[in-house]
Amino acid sequence: MSAQFDVAVLGCGYMGSALARTFAGRGANVTVWNRTPERAQALTASGCSAVAAVQEAVRRARIVVICLSTYESVEVVLGGAGTLAGRVVVNVTTGSPDQARPMRDRVAEQGGGYLDAVIVGYPEQVGRDDFLLLVSGHEPEWETARPALALLGGISRHVSESPEGANVLEAATVGAFHMTILAAFAEAARYAKSQGISPKEFLPLAVRVASVFEFQQEEIVQRLADEDFTTDQATLATYEKAARTFQHALSSSGTRAPLFDAAVAEFGRGVAQGRGEDAVWTLAADRGGA
Ligand SMILES: NC(=O)c1ccc[n+]([C@@H]2O[C@H](COP(=O)([O-])OP(=O)(O)OC[C@H]3O[C@@H](n4cnc5c(N)ncnc54)[C@H](OP(=O)(O)O)[C@@H]3O)[C@@H](O)[C@H]2O)c1
Repeated sequence: MSAQFDVAVLGCGYMGSALARTFAGRGANVTVWNRTPERAQALTASGCSAVAAVQEAVRRARIVVICLSTYESVEVVLGGAGTLAGRVVVNVTTGSPDQARPMRDRVAEQGGGYLDAVIVGYPEQVGRDDFLLLVSGHEPEWETARPALALLGGISRHVSESPEGANVLEAATVGAFHMTILAAFAEAARYAKSQGISPKEFLPLAVRVASVFEFQQEEIVQRLADEDFTTDQATLATYEKAARTFQHALSSSGTRAPLFDAAVAEFGRGVAQGRGEDAVWTLAADRGGA
């Protein structure tokens, strides 16, 4: 394979190891480095070369994938990386949008190109059709890294020229949406359990209720785009009344349900603002202020 498949993976935690194994399994020339050397060493069984110095990993690579816990740890590791000239750094470490641009500038100071990327999925999905990588940064860097990233399977998609684009998408979808759903699921399952309902009974029904996002997807997108919140189905006021009834059910069972309490308050806020006759999606139309 050509130099564009010379890949370094800095960080061999659960995700970094899955990335390194997949690159190597698909023919890339992979050098791995990890702060705790044993985790890099373990990847030699999958065809990777482990090195003790970050600088050596970077020296051998054209594409440098960084997968560490935080951007602060990326800063530390880049401090020992030496020159990045001729390399494209693909930073898949989870970070906030405002961390992306300074990191791009930092990498540029060391001579390297920079892509900020987000992995939407678990390590076991790397290499599979359902793997999703969202990438932001300049098009030429994306074109350089694209063939190597394609080895990871699924979809690697360039989402934005500005470095923070992928992190914004992640904060919205994985953060505010998915993580709240996970916590809401825990809350709901606790209540169901307290009432003697088994997870087997509860989960399929909960998934069915949440499928509104699937079957109404196009309509929701259109409504939000047009800011058209008229409805002949269910108004926000109807939601709010029902929510208060459910809130009573949860609280009288003794179930701690702070997320649901917050949802009830959100509905109430919308009604107090005079949006009671709108569809519930009206709540997505403001910035959440009082
Ligand atoms: N796991 C997932 O499902 C998933 C999904 C999407 C995105 N991500 C993101 O991928 C990144 C890595 O996650 P992970 O699951 O692989 O975590 P992990 O298994 O805990 O690995 C963390 C990695 O960061 C390294 N590290 C931490 N602090 C460091 C420092 N100060 N200097 C040098 N190295 C340091 C660790 O090195 P040591 O081995 O020496 O501790 C290890 O390689 C995170 O940003 C995470 O949010 C993970």
